[in-house]
Amino acid sequence: MTKKNLLLLPGDGIGPEIMEEVKKLISFLNKNKNLDLQIDEELVGGASYEKNKTPLTDDVLYKAQDSDAVLLGAVGGPKYDKLDFSKRPERALLRLRKELRLFANLRPAICFSELASASSLKKEVISDLDIMIVRELTGGIYFGEPRGIEPIQNGERKGINTHVYTTKEIIRVAKVAFDLAKKRNKKVTSAEKSNVMEAGLLWKEEVQKFYDESKDYKDIELSHMLADNCAMQLVRNPKQFDVIVTDNLFGDMLSDEAAMLTGSLGMLPSASLSEKDKNGRIRSMYEPCHGSAPDIAGQGIANPLAMILSFAMALKYSLNFDEISNEIEVAVKAVLKDGLRTPDIMENGKKKVSTSDMGSAIIDKLK
Ligand code: IPM
Ligand code: MG
Repeated sequence: MTKKNLLLLPGDGIGPEIMEEVKKLISFLNKNKNLDLQIDEELVGGASYEKNKTPLTDDVLYKAQDSDAVLLGAVGGPKYDKLDFSKRPERALLRLRKELRLFANLRPAICFSELASASSLKKEVISDLDIMIVRELTGGIYFGEPRGIEPIQNGERKGINTHVYTTKEIIRVAKVAFDLAKKRNKKVTSAEKSNVMEAGLLWKEEVQKFYDESKDYKDIELSHMLADNCAMQLVRNPKQFDVIVTDNLFGDMLSDEAAMLTGSLGMLPSASLSEKDKNGRIRSMYEPCHGSAPDIAGQGIANPLAMILSFAMALKYSLNFDEISNEIEVAVKAVLKDGLRTPDIMENGKKKVSTSDMGSAIIDKLK
């Protein structure tokens, strides 16, 4: 039994409620499945701002750096909209990504067949959909310099952001995509705007060159697609894709689009991973794709499954408990099959349950 340290950052809105279900699950696994997961819990986002006047304290950042994996609930809410940029809850997320060097963001868009009718697309277009979006997470226009808002003439102002990528940044995220495709359906689509942006052209050329020069990916089919076309193809025929690799900004948008194809944002997890450091350690953070949903916070109706599936991803990618991770995924399918639904995925004839009923149902399946 190896001890692992997890840092839980429930955050804002529904974050604490859905994290509660992961805590229940962890204590069940520690007791019954011979795991030794030690948890520490800290404030992040708006919750941290309220207490510390900053969305992420250095102390919490150090803890994140020292843990085997970070689980994050959600950050943000309308009451923080007026805060200075540097104080906003989202800054915590961006700083964690940057400081932990989480360059690879894995966002699966999976359509559980039980929920296929929840999508706004036709059932046959999306049932059994299984796409993986690999989003570059620490570069591009999110972090490029120069940036800022500056006064110009006549009382006008100028807003500046810089979209920039280097060969190294492109290749390391492409490698993640190819390695994932190897274990999946062996197709990688790289999305950029090489018709408009130099950084997009570089992206396309470097991905192609890396692929051509590598011996490891002969069995993988690589194609390139303009990001706008990719957005369209995702709605037209999403099952043509296996792994999509793209930059930070396009990845933000394409992953929201892909998530919504499945009809249930409340179901989708994500993983953000660093490179190995010199001791062979990888930093990682796992969070649901959905936001903090302040409109339903505190009512006990949020869907905890994306958070629980994010924890399952942590078990697989960071903690080396593949088997238990698979068991959790099977349990999620089983409770859906039993007809249990939180309000966001509720349909006629199914049984509406609360956040905590859903979490307990997962545990029951693992018994
Ligand atoms: C996401 C979110 C974040 C992003 C926000 C909250 C900063 O939209 O993780 O996709 O833009 O990356
Ligand atoms: Mg987003």
